[in-house]
Amino acid sequence: MHKICMTEDVPEREARSYETPNGDTIFVTQRDGSFFAYQNLCPHLQVELEFLENQFLDRDQEYIECSTHGALFLVETGECISGPCQGQSLEKVEINVHSDGGIYLLDE
Ligand code: FES
Repeated sequence: MHKICMTEDVPEREARSYETPNGDTIFVTQRDGSFFAYQNLCPHLQVELEFLENQFLDRDQEYIECSTHGALFLVETGECISGPCQGQSLEKVEINVHSDGGIYLLDE
């Protein structure tokens, strides 16, 4: 199992980008003490979501936002609730938080 980062690397209502061993770019975000990870690809045009480094959330830090056309995604499920890909979803990355404080990829 591959360790992505430690829980303290991803503060509440922030997000961080990481590269997986197979070369995918993913990001991890924290909401209400739970951690969620997604592939860094917008379902609209298959481009990376952020314009500035680690800026994956909207201004209110409520939703994940694509910087290209402003699609908004739910943090907990990755579902697009506004924008050109409404009804589609980000591709979830399965992670596990261990008692050592590490966040691990499940499928590597
Ligand atoms: S590329 Fe993400 S909303 Fe268009």
